Amino acid sequence: MKENVTPKITIYFILLTNLIFILYPVISLAKIKKGLPCSACHTMHYSQHGGILTHWGGSGPYKALVINDCLGCHTGNNDGTNYIPYVLSTSPPDYSNAGVSGNTLAGGNFYWVSQGQEDRGHNVKPFPPDSVYGYTPPGGSPLSSQLSCAGLNGCHGDRSKQGDFEAILGAHHANDDVIDGNTVGTSYRFLLGIKGYEDPKWEYKPNVFSHNQYKGADRISETEVDKSTISYFCAQCHGNFHSGSSQISADIGGWGSPWLRHPTDYDMGNTLSDSEYRNYPGDYPGAGATGSNPYSLIAPVGSEDVSSPKSNILFQKDAIITCISCHRAHGTPYKHNLRWDYYGWPETTSINGCNACHTAKN
Ligand code: HEC
Ligand code: HEC
Ligand code: HEC
Ligand code: HEC
Ligand code: HEC
Repeated sequence: MKENVTPKITIYFILLTNLIFILYPVISLAKIKKGLPCSACHTMHYSQHGGILTHWGGSGPYKALVINDCLGCHTGNNDGTNYIPYVLSTSPPDYSNAGVSGNTLAGGNFYWVSQGQEDRGHNVKPFPPDSVYGYTPPGGSPLSSQLSCAGLNGCHGDRSKQGDFEAILGAHHANDDVIDGNTVGTSYRFLLGIKGYEDPKWEYKPNVFSHNQYKGADRISETEVDKSTISYFCAQCHGNFHSGSSQISADIGGWGSPWLRHPTDYDMGNTLSDSEYRNYPGDYPGAGATGSNPYSLIAPVGSEDVSSPKSNILFQKDAIITCISCHRAHGTPYKHNLRWDYYGWPETTSINGCNACHTAKN
C-alpha cells in the first residue's frame, strides 16, 4: 500500500507548491511582502550608531516603532515593482491619459497639493490647510482639525480613534485575502467598513482585466444608505452630495430625473433601454477591451458584486455611478481633483470623462 500512496502525495505536493508559486505574487501584494526584514520598516530605538539612518524620517521616534510617518513611507515614484504604494511624488508625476497610463496609482497623487495647488486635492497634514474650505468639507460639517491620513479627522483606519497610527494599528500586517469590511485590515484600502476588490498593483497601468472594482449600490431612494460603498465613504464627510431628503432628487425621498445633485450609488440600468447611457463607455474603453460595454478606466463605474474586476459591465447592478467615477481621492493635476481636465475640454484636451456616460453629449 505504502508504495502506491507515496508517489501520489509527491505529485500532489509538487502541484500544490507550483500552484502556490503561481498564485503567490498576486495574493501577497496587498499585504506586506514576504521575505522583508523587520528592519526595512521598523527601528527598535530610533537610533543606529548613535544617529539615524538616511532613509528614515527625520522627525521620529514614530509610533509602532516604524521608520517614518504615513506620508514619509508612502513617498516615491511608482515603477510597477515597488511594494509600497506611493501617493506622493517629489517630482512631477506622469499623469498621462487622465492618470491611466502614467505612473500614478488609483487615488492619484498629493504632488500638486504639495506644490501649493490647494484646489487639486485633499490638503492633508503637513501641507497647509485649504485657504478656501478650511476644515469644512463641502456638503458636510467642519472637522475639529486639519485633514490627516487616518483617524478622527482622516480617511483611512478607524475614524473613531484620534491619531494616524492608533486608527490603523495592525492593518498593515493583517491577512486581507477576504475584504469583508469588518476590521481596518480587511476593509477596502484600510477604509473601515468599505468593501471592494483591490487591484494588487493599486492600478499601476491598469487594463480592463486588472483594476480595482469599486463597491456601489443600486438605490431606490435618496435617503437610502449602504455603508459599504465607496461613495458612502466620501459621504462620511461630504454627506449632502450623496444622500438626504431633497438633497439629490427633486421630491422629498424621491429618486430620479430631474436631479438636484449628480446621482451616485445609482445604476445606469434604471434609465430607458435606448438612453445615451447604454452606449457606455463611448470613446473611452479601457486598455484590452473587447465586446460590448467594456469597463472604462477614464470614468469607472461601481458594482454590487465586487468579487473580481469586471472587464465588461451589465446594466444591472454593475453600472453604478460613484464619487470616484469623476474624482480621485488624493489629488490630480486638475481642479477639484477631477480625473480629467473638466474645465479644459474641448479647448485644451480631447478627454472628457462625462462623455463616457453622456455619450450623446460629445
Ligand atoms: C514593509 C514594512 C514592514 C515590515 C517589513 C514589517 N512591518 Fe511591522 N508594521 C509596519 C507598519 C507600517 C506598522 C504600523 C501600522 C500598522 O500597524 O498597520 C507596523 C506595525 C507592527 C506592529 C504593531 C501592530 C501589530 O500588528 O501588532 C508590530 C508588533 C510589528 N509591526 C512587528 C513587525 C515584525 C516583528 C516584523 C518583521 C517580522 C515587521 N513588523 C515587519 C510595517 C512593516
Ligand atoms: C514603514 C513604512 C510604512 C508606514 C509608516 C506606513 N505604511 Fe502604509 N503601507 C506600507 C506598505 C509596505 C504597504 C503595502 C503592504 C500592505 O498593504 O500592507 C502599505 C500599504 C498601505 C495602504 C494600502 C493598503 C491596501 O489595501 O493595499 C494604505 C491605505 C496605507 N498603507 C496607509 C497608511 C497610513 C494611513 C499610514 C499611517 C498611519 C501608513 N500607511 C504608514 C508601508 C508603510
Ligand atoms: C475625513 C473627511 C473627508 C472624507 C472622508 C472625504 N473628504 Fe473630501 N474634503 C474634506 C475636506 C475637509 C475638504 C476641504 C479641505 C481640502 O480641500 O482639503 C475636502 C475637499 C474635497 C474636494 C474639493 C477639493 C478642492 O480643493 O477643490 C473634493 C473634490 C473632495 N473633497 C472629494 C472627496 C471624495 C471624492 C471623497 C471620497 C473618495 C472625499 N472627498 C472624502 C474631507 C473629506
Ligand atoms: C458614470 C457615468 C456618468 C458620468 C461619468 C457622468 N454622468 Fe452625469 N449622469 C449619469 C446618469 C446615469 C445620470 C442620470 C440620468 C437619468 O436619471 O436619466 C446623470 C445625470 C446628469 C445630469 C442631470 C440630468 C437630469 O436628468 O437631471 C447632468 C446635468 C449630468 N449628469 C452632467 C454630467 C457631467 C457634466 C459630467 C462630467 C463632470 C457627468 N454628468 C458625468 C451618468 C454619468
Ligand atoms: C458626474 C461627475 C461627478 C460625480 C459623480 C461627483 N462629482 Fe464632485 N464634482 C464634480 C465636478 C465637475 C465638480 C466641479 C464643480 C461643479 O461642477 O459642481 C465637483 C466638485 C466637487 C467638490 C467641490 C465643491 C465645492 O464647493 O467647491 C466636492 C467636495 C465634491 N465634488 C465631492 C464629491 C463627492 C463626495 C461625490 C460623491 C458623493 C462627488 N463629488 C461625485 C463631478 C462629480
